[in-house]
Amino acid sequence: MEQRTKIAVLVSGGGTNLQALLDAQAGGKMPHGEIKVVISSKAGVYALERAKNFDVPGYVVSRKELGSQEAFEQGISALLEQYHIDMIVLAGFMSILSSDFPARWPKRILNIHPALIPSFCGKGMYGLKVHEAALAKGVKVTGATVHFVNEIPDGGEILLQKAVEILPGDTAEVLQHRVMEQAEWLLLPQAAEMVAQQIMKEKEN
Ligand code: GAR
Repeated sequence: MEQRTKIAVLVSGGGTNLQALLDAQAGGKMPHGEIKVVISSKAGVYALERAKNFDVPGYVVSRKELGSQEAFEQGISALLEQYHIDMIVLAGFMSILSSDFPARWPKRILNIHPALIPSFCGKGMYGLKVHEAALAKGVKVTGATVHFVNEIPDGGEILLQKAVEILPGDTAEVLQHRVMEQAEWLLLPQAAEMVAQQIMKEKEN
């Protein structure tokens, strides 16, 4: 059998979406992919502990420490090369990548966004801010989206979406957790497996 698709997961925080990917892999739900490396844009984040617990090598590549966007992206690219990565999953990765970066990885980078794109997305819309914006607007339904990353923030092809209800009295934190539990943690492993399988197929041909 062909080698499984080698996946790098990029994180910046708690890493619950990384956990969902690791659990899916351990539970045999990602048979075409294998998480080879976790790269964090921040030191000391819990996502790195989660990687360690599953014996996946974890690294910190910090833009702040490296001093420039170029050095930051070179640091990430060096690790991607070292681990012969085929596909990248942004799982709560909060650093900006320049447009050159996705251009080198067409249909090979996935991102999870905590809203139904094209709502509450784009520049400056990340993490809790997305849920604050949904509550401020008064929408009754939100959700999550997994999409390919291109040069437009949150603008790449949509792979999967799932709707989640907003309930009276929701705070941004409560809503964030519901969106994660009911949508993100299910969609991301599913989309990762879908793309990993596609990449394996392409390699076979
Ligand atoms: C998740 O809700 C993810 O969708 C969001 O940040 C959170 C990270 O949580 N990502 C974005 O807002 C990207 N625009 P996690 O570290 O527990 O996975």
